[in-house]
Amino acid sequence: MLKDQLEQIREQAQDQIKNEVKNAQQLDEFRVKYLGKKGELTALLRGMSELSAEERPIIGQLANDVRSFLENKIQEAAQEFEKSAMADELKNDVIDITMPGKIKKLGKKHPLTSVTEEIEEVFISMGYEIAEGPEIEFDYYNFKALNTPEDHPARDLQDTFYINDRIVLRTQTSPVQIRVMENTKPPIKIICPGRVYRSDIADATHTPVFHQIEALVVDKGVTMGDLIGTLKLFAKKIFGENTNIRLRPHHFPFTEPSAEVDVSCWVCGGVGCRVCKQEGWIEILGAGMVHPNVLEMCGIDSKEYSGFAFGLGIERTAMGKYNIDDLRLLYENDIRFVSQF
Ligand code: DAH
Repeated sequence: MLKDQLEQIREQAQDQIKNEVKNAQQLDEFRVKYLGKKGELTALLRGMSELSAEERPIIGQLANDVRSFLENKIQEAAQEFEKSAMADELKNDVIDITMPGKIKKLGKKHPLTSVTEEIEEVFISMGYEIAEGPEIEFDYYNFKALNTPEDHPARDLQDTFYINDRIVLRTQTSPVQIRVMENTKPPIKIICPGRVYRSDIADATHTPVFHQIEALVVDKGVTMGDLIGTLKLFAKKIFGENTNIRLRPHHFPFTEPSAEVDVSCWVCGGVGCRVCKQEGWIEILGAGMVHPNVLEMCGIDSKEYSGFAFGLGIERTAMGKYNIDDLRLLYENDIRFVSQF
């Protein structure tokens, strides 16, 4: 009779696990129902003590069979549930690579950046190195070491942002010349692109922050001819093969002789047009032979060495190259403007 009951439990359990147990929780309930302390199989086994000595091993064997049968079934089912839980998770996690991506709008290189890089390329190809200096600069480097004495109008509070008596926001990239010469033995061949500051009100041709590129060459026997040759090559590379240059005498405290340098108009080629204001020429930079006082102040013997230098406005160059008529457009950060170049 016990035997029949055991067989019945086996069948019932088999049926139940197959048809009714659908998840891990139900499986646990199932396990408790049959194998738990108060479970059906456990209850039946308690009745074993009443069996005769012959019956006991046979029924005991059967009971063990049923128990391990149930344990196996439970283990199998548990593995099934675990597998399908993992499959569900993978299914929910799936990335559909055929979905259209999120389109990120790409920006564009700012014209000031492209012009700067283009100019850098030209000079790097001629063997120049790129130097850097601080934008917050000692008055000594920005003025005094550049042969610009204390009463020079360039030092006027109107022109210059003073941090204190000794420190200014650099008004030009020329102080980098001094820093390089103090630390390097000639031959020197550097350019220095960077931000400069002047206390100007913004209008179509002025902003209180703008950019320059400085160039400095110091070696034995450097002449004005080297300067002119270099500038010619630079102008042709940046403004086109047919570009000419013209030097007009000028004064800069740190060069002697000094010149302002014009390039032939890139629109009309020198005939005269609206862009060059009928002049045929457009001014782009200041240049000259490094003043002996400046060389000496940096510990370079001006009898042995000579050099040339020039400084160029990047905004002005970009405006010319791209025909931009208002400097302020360069600082509005409007993608519609920037994407045109
Ligand atoms: N630093 C000058 C300026 O900002 C430009 C300049 C002129 C730089 C002549 C030079 C130079 O190196 O030789 O106006």
